[in-house]
Amino acid sequence: MRVSKAVIPAAGLGTRFLPATKATPKEMLPVVDKPAIQYVVEEAVSAGIDDVLFITGRSKRALEDHFDRNLELETVLAEKGDRERLAGITASNDLARIHYVRQGEALGLGHAVSMAERHVGDEPFAVLLGDDLIDPRDEVLPDMIAAREAVGGSILCLMEVPREQISLYGCAAVEPTATDGLVLVTDLIEKPAADEAPSNWAVIGRYVLDPGIFAVLKRTTPGRGGEIQLTDALRELAHGGAVYGVAFRGRRYDTGDRLSYLQAVIRLALERDDLGPALRDWLPSVLAAPATKETP
Ligand code: G1P
Repeated sequence: MRVSKAVIPAAGLGTRFLPATKATPKEMLPVVDKPAIQYVVEEAVSAGIDDVLFITGRSKRALEDHFDRNLELETVLAEKGDRERLAGITASNDLARIHYVRQGEALGLGHAVSMAERHVGDEPFAVLLGDDLIDPRDEVLPDMIAAREAVGGSILCLMEVPREQISLYGCAAVEPTATDGLVLVTDLIEKPAADEAPSNWAVIGRYVLDPGIFAVLKRTTPGRGGEIQLTDALRELAHGGAVYGVAFRGRRYDTGDRLSYLQAVIRLALERDDLGPALRDWLPSVLAAPATKETP
């Protein structure tokens, strides 16, 4: 069955980015001139998904407004004849059919995903975590969807990280399969200490899940941090031999982390025709100059 629906959990409080996220959802922080979340929705659409369900919480109204029309702005820009900006603000309206469900209580990622059961029904579906920005040139979701079509089960996106960083991620124990780039996941641990991690393979925020996950989530008890963890439910499926991993070796940024967020902004701005050349010229002078006053 085709993967046509994506679930995007977006109920988090964004505490790593306070005070910027006091009144603005973290998903709306701009990466160059687009909110981080728009890259994520565009990635899903580019993989053939046409239906997106956001799991939101309180103070996420800006998300709904962003993916809706803004008639006042449209009128002003149309009157000015500013076609480029007009295209920019309407681009997010028709990306996909977008739906929202509120989580109510932040009980963990597993709980957030379980809120999607009614909408998703009995189909495989994608989950994209908004903090993970996959460079649009290195998309991995199509490979994951192809893997689901080939082997069934649930498909994770795995990235090798230095051992000292594994405690920030879900970690997978893996075995090779006959297919290059596809591994069998034999065990999963949410955010293990470096010396308890079974490997350096970190779970990145892209999943193609079998709808069987919903039944497992119902009986998953709170795990790490007292939260219902998606990793724990996937672990049960992995023990049944039905979880695979696609190795990701592309560029990925954690836009929920301040340093990685700045790196994403700079990397993507450098690639742009309108901003890249000027930024490229300016950067060496900042790096060379002592950190005092602004260079022109
Ligand atoms: C979540 C998952 C974790 C995964 C990570 C990827 O953690 O629980 O298994 O490795 O996303 O970004 P979070 O970063 O939301 O704490």
